[in-house]
Formats: sequence, structure tokens, C-alpha cells
Amino acid sequence: SWTTGNVIEEQVAAIREQVGTKRAICGLSGGVDSAVAAALVQKAIGSQLTCVYVDHGLMRQGETEQVEKDFVAATGVQLKVVDAEERFLAALAGVSDPEEKRKIIGREFIRVFEQAQAEIVAESAGEGEDVAFLVQGTLYPDVVESGGGTGTANIKSHHNVGGLPEDLEFALVEPLRKLFKDEVRMVGQELGLPEEIVQRQPFPGPGLGIRIVGEVTKSRLDLLRQADAIAREELTAAGLDREIWQCPVVLLAEVRSVGVQGDGRTYGHPIVLRPVSSEDAMTADWTRMPYDVLARISTRITNEVADVNRVVLDVTSKPPGTIEWE
Ligand code: XMP
Repeated sequence: SWTTGNVIEEQVAAIREQVGTKRAICGLSGGVDSAVAAALVQKAIGSQLTCVYVDHGLMRQGETEQVEKDFVAATGVQLKVVDAEERFLAALAGVSDPEEKRKIIGREFIRVFEQAQAEIVAESAGEGEDVAFLVQGTLYPDVVESGGGTGTANIKSHHNVGGLPEDLEFALVEPLRKLFKDEVRMVGQELGLPEEIVQRQPFPGPGLGIRIVGEVTKSRLDLLRQADAIAREELTAAGLDREIWQCPVVLLAEVRSVGVQGDGRTYGHPIVLRPVSSEDAMTADWTRMPYDVLARISTRITNEVADVNRVVLDVTSKPPGTIEWE
């Protein structure tokens, strides 16, 4: 019968059998799937696994630290953190178009990840250890959607490090291939991962980069991070974080409106709250949130975040609106 204990035992045995004495690499995004996949593989092969986390500077407050400290503390995993904030901000400078931003973030992400991967492969080769496996947090619904084949990832290295082959072929380790999201959360919990990671709401790969309508800059990111942290804090305090599917907080960086704050007139930016209820993110409804919670979030954001003088609520379903603004 299905128990998380059985699943873990079975997968640990299968991973040991598959990987043998070779090494594996896993990219961590901060999301649930990659975290649980990495924790399972870590349990199976320990120090034969190295995880890579690319900090693109578009994460929310505390997220990078959560991976660096809490995830490492809970699993003992070897982690390589790449601080790529400057690189991403430079690549995004002057760009306002949403699709353009997404393309740039995706492209830079792959480059940084591959470079880190190549470094790990080169270091391991120096010690006579083959890196032959790439761990991925593929879930059952992903398998069904993509036609169900098992694959190998053909990683083209654009950053040749010390005589590595042009094309490195990794076999995939996908320990979550038979599981649904709620089962993955249960396995994560059983493996002792922190609640904040296991129960995380979905967060887009391009991060806050697609929650700033307009150009992405460091100061705008800092402002949005502050507003987002307040919204999350109040939603959690009100016990709403599990009920709400997700609540993007969006900065309209190129819109200004007049306000009155303290003793004077201000000319600041609006923050949009986008709480949605959903089963699968394909469709969504705007969440009828309690007014007092909305009031607390609004008061705190306008009091605590400089340059924000208005908080607005998005009351659009999906369709016609998407969950994210970009
Ligand atoms: P939309 O905005 O299309 O979002 O209604 C649906 C769900 O997908 C998430 N999302 C992304 N997740 N990479 C991701 O990993 C992305 O580029 C991306 N874009 C949107 C969004 O947060 C929502 O949960």
C-alpha cells in the first residue's frame, strides 16, 4: 500500500542502483519539486550529489537564505550557490517588454547553470570521479504532458572548462516521476524538510522580474521585495496562506499617482495585490479575501514602503487575466 515511508525506501534503493558510485548534480530553484527530489537523492547517495542554486537577484525576501541555510541544515547537502544578480540586472537593463524579459532571464539562467555544472564536472574529474547524472523534480503530471518517455539531458556546454567534451551527456534521475504534488509535499515532510519549503505556494521561475511592470532595476526590486514580504507576513498571520493558491504582488513601476502622506503631497507608485484561488493554475478566480486583512496589508505597505502611496486589488478571474501580470 502507498505510504510515504514505502515511497522513500523504494526510491532510495532505485537511486542507489541507478547511480552506483558515480556523481550527480541537481539544480535547486527554491521550489518544492526540486527540493524534495534533491533531498531524496541526498538520502540515497549523500556526498555523491552536488546541488546548484542560481541566485538571479529576482527572488523574494529570505528565499535565497532559506535554500542556503534551512535546506542545507535539513539535508546536509553539498550546495554551490552562484550569485548572479549583477549579471541578470545588466542583461535586463532597459528592457520593459514582458516576453523579452522572460527570454533574457531564461537564457542567462541556462548559461549560469551550465557554467556551474561544468565547474563541478571539471573539479570532480580532477579527483577521478565521473558526474554522470542530472537530478530533476519531474512529477507525474509533467510525465503525462510530455508523452511519457524517459530521457537523457544533452547539455551543450558553451563555457568549455579545461578540456571538457563539447557535449556532456547526463542520464536523468527523476525520483518523483510517479507522484502528484500533494504526495511530493508529504514525502518532503517525511524527509524533514522545513515547512516553509514543503508548503510553498507556486512562484514563477523568472521571479520578481515579471512582477515589475516596466524596467527591472535593483531599487525597484528592493521596493517590491519589501511590499511582498509585508503581504506574505499578513497572509500567513491571518492563516490564509494555505487557502490562497498564490498572491502575486506587483509593482506598477511606470505608473504614478498623487497621494497625501505625512505632511505633504506625494507622487508615488501603486502596488497591486493579486490573490487567486485555483486548483491547477489553468483557471483561477480572484480570492474574496477578508477586508480587514486587505486593510492591514494596505496600511502597512503605504506606511513602510517608500515611494508607494496606493495599494490596489486585482479582481479579475483567469481567464481573461493570467495570474501573473506579465
Ligand atoms: P499565468 O500567469 O500564466 O501563471 O496564469 C500560471 C502559473 O504559472 C506560474 N508561472 C510560471 N512558473 N515559470 C514558472 O516556473 C514561469 O515562467 C512562469 N510563468 C508563470 C504562475 O506563477 C502561476 O502559478
